[in-house]
Amino acid sequence: DTMLQWQRTGYHFQPKKNYMNDPSGPMYYRGWYHLFYQHNPEGAVKGDIIAWGHAVSRDLVRWRHLPLAMVPDHWYDIKGVMTGSTTVLPDGRVVLLYSGNSNTSAQVQCLAVPENPKDPLLRKWKKHHANPVLVAPPGIGLKDFRDPTTAWFDNSDHTWRTVIGSKDDHEHAGITIMYKTKDFLRYERIPGFLHRVKGTGMWECIDFYPVGSDSHNNSSEGVLYVMKESSDDDRHDYYALGKYNASANRWTPVDPKADLGVGLRYDWGKFYASKTFYDPNKRRRVLWGWVGEADSKRTDVAKGWGSVQSIPRTVALDEKTQTNLIQWPVKEVETLRLNAIDHSGITIGAGSIFPIRLRQAAQLDIEASFRLDPSTVIGLNKDEVGYKCGTSGGAANRGVLGPFGLLVHTNNHQSEQMAIYFYVSRGLEGGLQTHFCHDESRSSQAQSVVKEVVGSAVPVLDKEVLSVRILVDHSIVESFVMGGRLTVTSRVYPTEAIYAAAGIYVFNNATGSTVTAEKLVVHEMDSAWTHKRD
Ligand code: FRU
Repeated sequence: DTMLQWQRTGYHFQPKKNYMNDPSGPMYYRGWYHLFYQHNPEGAVKGDIIAWGHAVSRDLVRWRHLPLAMVPDHWYDIKGVMTGSTTVLPDGRVVLLYSGNSNTSAQVQCLAVPENPKDPLLRKWKKHHANPVLVAPPGIGLKDFRDPTTAWFDNSDHTWRTVIGSKDDHEHAGITIMYKTKDFLRYERIPGFLHRVKGTGMWECIDFYPVGSDSHNNSSEGVLYVMKESSDDDRHDYYALGKYNASANRWTPVDPKADLGVGLRYDWGKFYASKTFYDPNKRRRVLWGWVGEADSKRTDVAKGWGSVQSIPRTVALDEKTQTNLIQWPVKEVETLRLNAIDHSGITIGAGSIFPIRLRQAAQLDIEASFRLDPSTVIGLNKDEVGYKCGTSGGAANRGVLGPFGLLVHTNNHQSEQMAIYFYVSRGLEGGLQTHFCHDESRSSQAQSVVKEVVGSAVPVLDKEVLSVRILVDHSIVESFVMGGRLTVTSRVYPTEAIYAAAGIYVFNNATGSTVTAEKLVVHEMDSAWTHKRD
């Protein structure tokens, strides 16, 4: 079926076939980037088998698939080799901690090490004979104790620390439990919770790391730490910036109103169970996120695979706002750029649309920045207050200063279109605010697809233009807004707007302002895969 074949990505990571979920254990080792992932090697949907898939790359873009790193073959992980993390020790050794789903469905923590550390590809892994090395403490549900983080060394007591996510049934609280260990075999729980937020349910796939210019000086009081949890209740990845007091075993968010489970998200679309690693090679922190399917399981089975990974993203503190992170595609992605079409400077009148001619529209890297006509910016009326991507009518609802942006995966008559737009409106406090949204509602004529309008308000500082970078790669579209302050990821399954029948457009559906695209550059992207569409 050529329509289903079209959905496979050209430069986003996916296994050769079958199902994938969480990225696991990403790291840099002896010249290679490693990515492991939750994998059902026998089917296109989550099934009875959860193993660790494995791939390596020199540049985070071009991947080579390797044999399974671990499969369920012991009593302690027979129902699943679940998510985990790697830690590269100062002497170069690698330890891998993962959650085993045992024969009784208890979640227990297990240790594995490379069978041959001299093999830079780390093809074979040895599960430790002492497994499981850690079981749930009293009072914690046996099925609510999983996904250990990468460990870090605490200089104050010379032990390694790792954090595990859980929930406290009392108050339906999400919690993080911290352990210390000297040898990764024996663990001591640090009393209390590193963090706890009532009402947020089970916290999966905790991540915890320093950011900002102070981040390498972890004795400094001022260091900001990111805590991230994946909320099983609503399937979003939430993060917050906070301060970490190691001796008190406490992390506290800078803004208590924007706490985990209620505040900032890594991504406002489909993006879950993410994990970062520190890349010592390029001195950056890199984030991977699982981007699942939004069509029916039947369709997944028909196409023979399910899920992709997000583009690897560098994560850093937004030094301008100091209130959020910046995420940006790793720069190696730009090595896939082929020819570019440049329409910088064009002005799009209120209510008009402009086609961009391309050789193909399925693999693109779009850079755009927009300016409204400043003389119209005062003309907002009362109805423009309280805009929300999810409930304000999407790209079809015309306001004075929005929506405007791009249509990708769009057919000739625009009956099938994936709208990506800005919308400027008046906030509840009276000032202007900018929203950025993906309107998926007309992105596919298939009834089985889940289609939403997703996005959020995004900070815009004085004199900044409204900018977005959009990675289009067949059935995944990722937007990085305002230099990466906000990201939105969608799965898109057009039925008509595929192959030669697909195009892209710039549109301005605002009633009250022209829009000038100060920058509008569209790069056609090469494929990173040699096994493409096999
Ligand atoms: C998150 C998750 C993890 C678990 C893994 C199992 O998607 O549920 O908590 O370890 O997937 O595949």
